[in-house]
Amino acid sequence: MVAVIIDGKKIAQNIRGKIKNEVAKLTSKPGLAVVLVGADPASQVYVNSKEKACQEIGFYSEVHRLPETTGEAELLALIQKLNVDPKIHGVLVQLPLPKQIDVRKVILAINPDKDVDCFHPQNTGNLVNYFKAADQTMILPCTPLGCLKLLESTGVSLSGKKAVVVGRSNIVGKPMAILLFQLDCTVTVCHSRTEDLANEVRQADIVIAATGQPGLITGGMIKPGAVVIDVGTNRVNGKLTGDVDFAGVSAAAGFLTPVPGGVGPMTIAMLMQNTLNAYLAQKK
Ligand code: GUN
Repeated sequence: MVAVIIDGKKIAQNIRGKIKNEVAKLTSKPGLAVVLVGADPASQVYVNSKEKACQEIGFYSEVHRLPETTGEAELLALIQKLNVDPKIHGVLVQLPLPKQIDVRKVILAINPDKDVDCFHPQNTGNLVNYFKAADQTMILPCTPLGCLKLLESTGVSLSGKKAVVVGRSNIVGKPMAILLFQLDCTVTVCHSRTEDLANEVRQADIVIAATGQPGLITGGMIKPGAVVIDVGTNRVNGKLTGDVDFAGVSAAAGFLTPVPGGVGPMTIAMLMQNTLNAYLAQKK
């Protein structure tokens, strides 16, 4: 089997085009504020991409770049200001944060209506209890939602399928497992303590690789014809590499996302969609 490569860049461009058309019809602009504390190189790249996407789509955009030494109280005060700023409909604090800042306090401080990351417990609670495929207006977590759109693009139905999510982070693994579970997949979540990863992955019709370990998922682990979504964004010798051994897995899988050009562009497109949804909900 030679996998069909899922073109995340093209799918994301289509979604961004639709959002841009909708924004052009509005009488005011959806606004996104992004806060970056410190100078983590990967975070800087992500934040720059988010800023560029806002400009291209026609959103109002603010990026607050704060020094590594920023105190928790200072960051919380900025969030409070953004929470009540009528120009701002989405607030995103880029993670990770420096050690002196308690990430839980930061997430709780963000107005849930402006939480375009879907990190606030009110929104994660809604995701766990109420998410269903038909609901397109909810704020949902950007990267898992992007993965879901890529899965949907294959035309493979999800209901009743075995899905294995490799990785249990709060940003990707956990919410991804919930989305798939709510869409009637039978979900297994694997992690660093899983005893026989290869055996677990081999059962899967759908594999989501989100571990941060380059090349962890190999061709021998893949059930022939499976759909494999690679969330990894690892730098190896300066080159962006996924969690999937691309050559080996593309010989076994039915569908596979590339890195770059798979999940990455979808995360940004979903952030734009969440910002538009947050704007529309706040204008009601
Ligand atoms: N760091 C890595 N991914 C993300 C994300 O989706 N949102 C935020 N806020 N920080 C991140």
